[in-house]
Amino acid sequence: MPAVKTTYLCQQCGAASPKWAGQCPACSAWNTLVETIAAPRSPGRTQSAARAVAGASVVTPIGRLTSAEASRLSSGFGEVNRVLGGGFVPGSIILFGGDPGIGKSTLLLQLAARIAAAGESVLYVTAEESPEQVRGRAERIGGVVDGLNLAATTDLDTALAAIESVSPALAVVDSVQTLTSPELSGPAGSVGQVREVAARMAEVAKAGRTCIALVGHVTKEGTVAGPRTLEHLVDAVIYLEGERLGSTRLLRAAKNRFGSTDEVGVLEMRGDGLAEVDDASRFFLESEETPTAGSAVTIALEGTRPLAVEIQALSAASSYGSPRRATTGIDVNRVLMLIAVLARHAGLNLSGHDVYVNVAGGLRIDEPAADLAIATALASSLRERPVRTGTVLAGEVALSGRLRAAMRAERRLLEATRLGFDRLVTGPARGERSASRQSGLVVAPDIRAALEATLEH
Ligand code: TYD
Ligand code: MG
Repeated sequence: MPAVKTTYLCQQCGAASPKWAGQCPACSAWNTLVETIAAPRSPGRTQSAARAVAGASVVTPIGRLTSAEASRLSSGFGEVNRVLGGGFVPGSIILFGGDPGIGKSTLLLQLAARIAAAGESVLYVTAEESPEQVRGRAERIGGVVDGLNLAATTDLDTALAAIESVSPALAVVDSVQTLTSPELSGPAGSVGQVREVAARMAEVAKAGRTCIALVGHVTKEGTVAGPRTLEHLVDAVIYLEGERLGSTRLLRAAKNRFGSTDEVGVLEMRGDGLAEVDDASRFFLESEETPTAGSAVTIALEGTRPLAVEIQALSAASSYGSPRRATTGIDVNRVLMLIAVLARHAGLNLSGHDVYVNVAGGLRIDEPAADLAIATALASSLRERPVRTGTVLAGEVALSGRLRAAMRAERRLLEATRLGFDRLVTGPARGERSASRQSGLVVAPDIRAALEATLEH
C-alpha cells in the first residue's frame, strides 16, 4: 500500500498543518483542525495530449443528457418523496440525520425494502448493528424481500467495494459515524473520519447511478462532526425529528439540491415501523367534541402544505414571586411578547400567572402567522371562555396590538373549510380592498377585536 500522508486542515482558514494542535497556527481559531488525507499529486509532468483526452471525456452536449427528474426513484413513501422533491435522484448522496433512537435505521430499512420490493436492487451497509439485528428489524417491518442485500462491515474501503460490486439503485450506509478509514488515525466518528466517509461515498455516488443514503447521528444544533462539516459534501440533508417518547416523526430537508427545503413529511412510529398518516392536516388536531378554554386552532403553512394545528395554553395563578413561562413547540420569546401585547392592548394581565403553551402533536411552529392563535389560546385560558366552534385563527400580531393577515390566507381558509371549520379570523392584508374578502374570512384590525369575534361570550 502506498504511504498515505495525512495533514490537518483548518476548517476556518484552510491552512494545513503536519500535526494536530488545539489552535490553528495560521488563524489562531480553536478546535478547527481536522485530520484529512492529502490529495494525491499526479506523478511527474502531465502530458498535454493525455490531458486533452481526459478533458474531452467529460464534455457532453446538453441535448444528449437526460434530466434527473426523469429518472427519480420512488421511495415507496409519499411523505418521503415529498421531502426529497419527488424521489431519490440516481447518482446523488443524501444525509439522513437525527437524534439517536429517533428511527433513522427503521426508516431507511423500510425505504430499502420498498424499493427492493419494487424490483430495484438495494444494498444496506450496516456498520452499527449485526446483520441478525437488522434481519430482526426487517421481520418486524415486513422488510424481508428479494433484492435487499446486507453488508456488515465497519471498514470504509470494504463498504465502498461492496457498493461498487453490487452497483445497487440505492445503498444505505448506517452509519457515517461507525465506518472508518484505516488511513486516518482518528477514531470512528471523529470529524476527519466522518468527512472522509462522506467524501469517498460522494465520489462513488457521482461516478455511477447509485443513490447513497448516509445515516448520521446529528442534530440541527450540530456538534463538530455534525451537519456543518458534511453539508457541503452531500446533495441533500434530511432530518428525522420528533419527541422520543411521542410517536409523531417529521421529515424536513435542511438542504436539497433537487427540491425545496420547505416541505415537511409527517410519519408516525408504530409497532411495525414508520407509517404515513392518513390525513396529515388533521393529524395535529386533538379531537375534542366540546371546545375547551385555552385551546385555539391555527392553519400553519409548512412549505406548501397547510396543517391544522392546535395551540394549547394554560394560565394558573402563580405561587412564587416570578411567574413561570414554559413552551413546547413555540419560541418562548414570542409568547413573552404576546403576553405583553395582551396586557397592553387587550386588558388581559397575566403578570401574576404561570403560563404554559404547547403545540399539540409534537410539531414546532416558527411562522408569525401562529401569533393570533397563541394569543387567543392565552386569552381563552385566562378568561375561561372557549373559542367559538368552527373558528380557526391565522395572523401576525404587532407590538401595537394591530393584526396583519397571514400569508396566503385564502389557501389556509380553504383547508380550514375542508376540515369542517367555517371561519378563519385574520388581520387585514396590506393594501387590501374590501372586495377581496371571502365568505368565512373574518378580518379584525387588532387583537382586541379579534378576541371579541373569537371567544364565546
Ligand atoms: P431506530 O431506527 O433504531 O433509531 P435510530 O437508528 O435513529 O437510532 O429506532 C429506535 C426506536 O424505534 C426504538 O426505540 C424502537 C422504536 N421502534 C418502534 O417503535 N417500532 C418499530 O417497528 C421499530 C423497528 C422500532
Ligand atoms: Mg440506527
